[in-house]
Amino acid sequence: MIRKKIMKNKILNIKNLSKSYGAFKVTDQIAIDLNFNEIHALIGPNGAGKSTLIKQIVGSVKQDRGSILLDQEDITDLSDVERAKIGISRTFQVSSIIPSFSAIENIILSLLNKSNKTFQLFKNIKDNNELELKAKNILREIELIENSGMVASELSHGDRRKLEVGLALAMNPKVFLFDEPMAGLDESGTQMMINLFKKIKLNTPILLIEHDMEAVFALADRVSVINYGKIVATGTVDQIRSNELVKDVYLGYEI
Ligand SMILES: Nc1ncnc2c1ncn2[C@@H]1O[C@H](COP(=O)(O)OP(=O)(O)O)[C@@H](O)[C@H]1O
Ligand SMILES: [Mg+2]
Repeated sequence: MIRKKIMKNKILNIKNLSKSYGAFKVTDQIAIDLNFNEIHALIGPNGAGKSTLIKQIVGSVKQDRGSILLDQEDITDLSDVERAKIGISRTFQVSSIIPSFSAIENIILSLLNKSNKTFQLFKNIKDNNELELKAKNILREIELIENSGMVASELSHGDRRKLEVGLALAMNPKVFLFDEPMAGLDESGTQMMINLFKKIKLNTPILLIEHDMEAVFALADRVSVINYGKIVATGTVDQIRSNELVKDVYLGYEI
């Protein structure tokens, strides 16, 4: 009974997930989960297997072993496209922004994409008030409403990042998986992203891979540490910062 209740708190539940390339175990019996309204950060040295884990969750890398439950549904055998449809957001390592479209057109395209109605673009766009309203709400949420008419290629780097988050929001996923979203951002850009993530986690939990430790410590409700493909510790920020094993993993780094 109690066990069932605990399970219900998880939007994402990963067990025993493993992937080898030849004899090299990139992810090794990973167990990690994500609660509702939570940011769970995954940290670890370069090459530890973080991006591969995200790819396995997204479905672009097939696991050798293990299971993935999304909202109690087993998605282990679903393709990446099927997983995206039922609520796994793709990471934005490869930008999905169309540079020649305005910010709002990009958001509308993503909204249409979600509802499989891309063909309506240009035909009904002006009439489709509901769609425009939704897009504006997202632009307000990502604080890009003032630049909504700007062509994406002319947006600042930080604003393009916001737009990428907006495109992900438009897909209305059950979980966000972000792989180093702060990479390449300056301090104010990072702070903007931190504020944005704090806001969006209230609706959509986030599994966050991030190198910027200040961002991780500012955002994470829980932190897991991965080293050589294995999760070596999971806990609150304070627990992780005082964990001796974690200090060993990050030898020479201030964490
Ligand atoms: N397709 C692949 N074929 C062979 N080795 C790979 C492949 N993808 C990743 N690796 C290796 O797996 C290890 C973990 O990579 P990755 O998941 O990108 O780590 P991280 O994101 O933690 O830096 C690295 O040593 C990398 O070279
Ligand atoms: Mg990586």
